[in-house]
Amino acid sequence: MHVIPAKAGTFNNQTIQNMISSKIEQALNRQIDLEGYASIYYLSMASWCEVKGFKGVAKFLFHHSDEERMHMLKLFHYINDRGGHAVVPGLQSPPKDYVSIRAIFETVLSHEVKVSNEINALVELCINEKDYTTHNFLQWYVSEQIEEESLARNILDKLNLIGDDKGGMYLFDRDLEALAGAEHK
Ligand code: FEO
Repeated sequence: MHVIPAKAGTFNNQTIQNMISSKIEQALNRQIDLEGYASIYYLSMASWCEVKGFKGVAKFLFHHSDEERMHMLKLFHYINDRGGHAVVPGLQSPPKDYVSIRAIFETVLSHEVKVSNEINALVELCINEKDYTTHNFLQWYVSEQIEEESLARNILDKLNLIGDDKGGMYLFDRDLEALAGAEHK
């Protein structure tokens, strides 16, 4: 096969390595910030639940915190693999105290909705920037967000049914422990 030599200066680093643009790199780094914050936020909620005796809810939230860290790490590796630089965010401390289990899951749902909106904005940016590789990478997050929002809504539905019933809360705590265990398998 006759190989036509590339003229000097024909390729820049971006075309050779299929690097991400700095605009996409910055946007993905902002997403790292959100996922990292979700991880420590859920960790703080888990700690409060453990202290208050809700061991099952705590286990579920510790597990959820680990998942958010995994979401953050996927972004780290992707940015670096595409020639960018993933940066560790300086995270603000999450609240230490919470009003109730219900308030915790309302916060979880609203945070997940915020994350979904940011993922959708990232997908739109990728289309505008014609970065179809990152667009493809983000599809995993799009699906994950559908599951996460749905899970938070289902949990809030259960809490609505339980109301102030203490026996119901006892069973709810056991249910969440089982749910965390099932997700670990
Ligand atoms: Fe990674 Fe739940 O957002």
